[in-house]
Amino acid sequence: MNFVIAIDGPAASGKGTMARRLAQAYGFAHLDTGLTYRAVAKALLDEGLPLDDEALAEKYAGKVDLAALDREALSTHGVGEAASKVAVMPAVRRALVEKQREFSRTPPGTVLDGRDIGTVVCPDAPVKLYVTASAEVRAARRTDEIVANGGTADAGAILEDIRRRDQRDMGRTDSPLKPAADAHLLDTSEMDIEAAFLAAKAFVDEALSKRNGG
Ligand code: CDP
Repeated sequence: MNFVIAIDGPAASGKGTMARRLAQAYGFAHLDTGLTYRAVAKALLDEGLPLDDEALAEKYAGKVDLAALDREALSTHGVGEAASKVAVMPAVRRALVEKQREFSRTPPGTVLDGRDIGTVVCPDAPVKLYVTASAEVRAARRTDEIVANGGTADAGAILEDIRRRDQRDMGRTDSPLKPAADAHLLDTSEMDIEAAFLAAKAFVDEALSKRNGG
């Protein structure tokens, strides 16, 4: 069986950067599962269709092509908000989770990051990380990111958005955001990217050496 690194956590916790760096370090394929929910939301928005019609959203979820996810086009704030609305619908989740599970079997190993990887998508993953940081720290990071990319950002509004999204993701009935019972918790509020990566890598190395009988 191939090796899966499952990473979950709330918006702007730093899990995406961590996932990319781990994938690079181990030569594993990486899937940001948030992009799959974003792809469904963007397709609906682009066609002026409602975000709360489950049968319609399910149809678009079935068409998502993991090899064609365009991170840049999917990265806008509005698409992220819309994604957390389509993500409450069980039929959408079923369709996307099936594709995500198939991806997770890519040899020699994979890194998946999202909200429900350790709990639902890959419950048997040999290593699970739950990455968090306080809402204030996450809002500050998101604000800095927008400013660094030449945009303007209202820090107060971003904090409000993050709190609202946390509530929606943690409060939904189907696959709410929560740490798996066997996840390692990593609070990165006081860690920079390098420190967070090294802490994550230590957990992965430990799981790999167990896997290899060491
Ligand atoms: O990058 P950011 O954390 O802002 O968002 P994202 O990871 O791209 O995810 C966007 C939205 O998709 C989240 O707010 C969740 O509602 C949803 N999502 C999910 O439900 N399950 C996943 N495995 C990944 C994302």
